[in-house]
Amino acid sequence: MCRVDLTEFDCLLTERGRALLAELAAGSDSADPLAAATALRARYPAELVSAALTQDRLRRRARAKFGEQAADLYFTEAGYEQSTRRQVARLRAERFTAAGVRRVADLCCGIGGDALAFAAAGIDVLAVDRDPLTCAVARANAAALGLAERVEVVCADVAEVSLDGCDAVFLDPARRAERGRVFDPAAYSPPWSFAVGLAERVPAAGFKVAPGIPHGALPAEAEAEWVSDGGDVKEAGIYFGPLRTASRRATLLPGPHSLAAGSADPSESAIPHDPAPGEIGPYLYEPDGAVIRARLLGDLADLLDARTLDPTIAYLTSDKHTDTPYAAGYEITDVLPFNVKKLRAFVAERGYGTLTIKKRGADIDPEALRRQLKLGGPKTNAATLIVTRHLGRHVALVAHAL
Ligand SMILES: C[S@@+](CC[C@H](N)C(=O)[O-])C[C@H]1O[C@@H](n2cnc3c(N)ncnc32)[C@H](O)[C@@H]1O
Repeated sequence: MCRVDLTEFDCLLTERGRALLAELAAGSDSADPLAAATALRARYPAELVSAALTQDRLRRRARAKFGEQAADLYFTEAGYEQSTRRQVARLRAERFTAAGVRRVADLCCGIGGDALAFAAAGIDVLAVDRDPLTCAVARANAAALGLAERVEVVCADVAEVSLDGCDAVFLDPARRAERGRVFDPAAYSPPWSFAVGLAERVPAAGFKVAPGIPHGALPAEAEAEWVSDGGDVKEAGIYFGPLRTASRRATLLPGPHSLAAGSADPSESAIPHDPAPGEIGPYLYEPDGAVIRARLLGDLADLLDARTLDPTIAYLTSDKHTDTPYAAGYEITDVLPFNVKKLRAFVAERGYGTLTIKKRGADIDPEALRRQLKLGGPKTNAATLIVTRHLGRHVALVAHAL
């Protein structure tokens, strides 16, 4: 991995640096990257070439989070990895604008994933980070998007900046230490206690936290929102005061589709209700991870007229099919006890050649099971095999995605 320091990064912002970046962006992946780098070093200083190659690689990678915009932005490796993806940041910025926020302090701004979205939504931003290179990158990004006038980047410890003039705060603490990811909110930088104190000082406060945050750690007066993108849970956000719109919420991108419990009233916290288990119906639903994390399974079951297979399993089943963005739906064709020998005979009889194997609440290795089932049919004869539990017993459900 090639680390870039502040001086090298500044070189990228010069006319020469930009020209080299544009040249790299226009080129396709070289068959011989070593020879391509050597050729560039004949025309540009070696440090600039190395910084530009790193930046170009990061920009290409960053398309996953920032789409086409990545080509205009600057990144550091750690800054990119910790940044909020564009769609999620935009969703958050909409929440802040809806609450009437005019100037937000984005504490721990990183390379600006959230700050840029706030600014693009018309909110002025005081963006604070303690790392000088990260601040330089955030500044360059605001300029690259024509948002420099809206984004004031300050290099400082967030505990030491004045919040005067800001009517809201957003905090996205660093959740990684030298040895990797940090799960305990007390070990975030700055720690959870700082976040809680912040919400007491500024009523319109929002924090980004890990999706796995225990519900017991969530302040009752705040809203907790879990956001998934393309089915993967990306983050949880906690919102206080005028930023609160519900008690718990699951928002699915790219929709967005949002399922919520409770109201904006902080004195009202909607207690999660788990759906009752019952008989296996002809339809099965696999809820989106954000719905599960937000403990909205009971609310989704109400919407789908559904029940669970087992109190410990997050699959829902129903007698009727309802189209929903909050769960993947399946039609169950067969319900079998989980027994490899019987399953093998069943699969042979049906002549399946392709099986998507899913499991929940069953300690199996899908790849090993697939080998054991010895699929012999044509590849086009496909089904989904769901190994799970029904009222405490292991079952195998054969199904087709709807
Ligand atoms: C998770 S990243 C922020 C990502 C950002 N929201 C984005 O979307 O690009 C956390 C940042 O917090 C900064 N940080 C950690 N502790 C800090 C502190 N006490 N004061 C200022 N910045 C801090 C780190 O340098 C890091 O850039």
